[in-house]
Amino acid sequence: MSQNPSPRQIVQQQLPKQAQPGPQASAFAPSNIALCKYWGKRDKALNLPINPSLSVSLGQLGSRTELSPIDGAEDRVILNGEVQSLEGGFAAKVVSFLDLFRQPGSPRLQVDTHNNIPTAAGLASSASGFAALMLAVDKLYNFGLSPEQLSAFARLGSGSASRSIFEGFVEWQMGVRDDGMDSHARPLAQSWPNFRIGLLTLTSAAKSVGSRAGMQRTVDTAHLYQSWPLQAAADLERIHQAIEQQDFELLGATAEQNALSMHATMIASWPPLLYWQPESVAAMQQVWALREQGLPLYFTMDAGPNLKLLFQGQDQQAVLKAFPSLQVVAPFEAA
Ligand code: ADP
Ligand code: DP6
Repeated sequence: MSQNPSPRQIVQQQLPKQAQPGPQASAFAPSNIALCKYWGKRDKALNLPINPSLSVSLGQLGSRTELSPIDGAEDRVILNGEVQSLEGGFAAKVVSFLDLFRQPGSPRLQVDTHNNIPTAAGLASSASGFAALMLAVDKLYNFGLSPEQLSAFARLGSGSASRSIFEGFVEWQMGVRDDGMDSHARPLAQSWPNFRIGLLTLTSAAKSVGSRAGMQRTVDTAHLYQSWPLQAAADLERIHQAIEQQDFELLGATAEQNALSMHATMIASWPPLLYWQPESVAAMQQVWALREQGLPLYFTMDAGPNLKLLFQGQDQQAVLKAFPSLQVVAPFEAA
């Protein structure tokens, strides 16, 4: 168990005293896809990572969450128009996140949240979901938290949510403090208007092992995991260099190798964790074949069977011809 203060103690130390909720607050946060992955925790209660990570936010794709105080003894959690059972995992996680910020006697809340990406399908709804909830909490209670505090607190809901507080390229620095307050994300100044991400949904079947349990199993059982922090550190440097120089091939190759290295540690766990389906492997081989033919196309993958393709705007037609069902995101173009 962790020797550190509890998440609630850490949050309460930082909050202004005696905040009362306003009548209503609403916030949006984008989902994000990591180019250098977060995989493994040094503190499970605080979601403190073993390695830094770097992502790109998905623009208009993500979660919008509206909070309002309600009468009664219980919170009410609505996802995409459907009331969630308070016994179920979804609402329970939302309620325990809210409890970090409020006093026991304070009014219960209605949480009305909409994801315009699939929930729990490897498209990082947990990242956008907890980031949007954090932003809405800050507005409802008028806390006036800094972007760093918002990011560090969103991390307590889900690690990758620390990055969804920001747009564009985002780095989550791992930090060294026991209370984790230096483990927050920051946006990078660089933009890359030509950069495209294609969401290739091969199957929407729910994952059997979520990222939280999967990364813990990997840390606990895969000897191969020992090489992961070094790989991630080197990849992070290369991705920074690629962004700085707008070197797409360096970016794509590093992101793809980073994702496959993460999956190698998963496969080396026991019981083994193989998130790939036959369709995932077929799509990887198709990407490699297109690359052989000269198309600068790369992929990344998270804890699920679907691929995220990385390419540039000028290649969009060629990529769509090969993958007609692709959902293309231009993260640096205004909606
Ligand atoms: P994904 O790949 O979509 O991130 P996970 O299984 O890792 O899948 O995360 C799904 C979890 O994220 C949900 O069980 C819930 O705890 C959280 N989540 C998703 N969407 C929201 C939302 N809009 N608001 C709050 N939490 C959310
Ligand atoms: C493979 O952020 O979902 O998507 O902190 O336990 O909530 P928890 O894990 P989560 O893990 C994301 C893992 C990943 C890589 C990444 O997004 O960096």
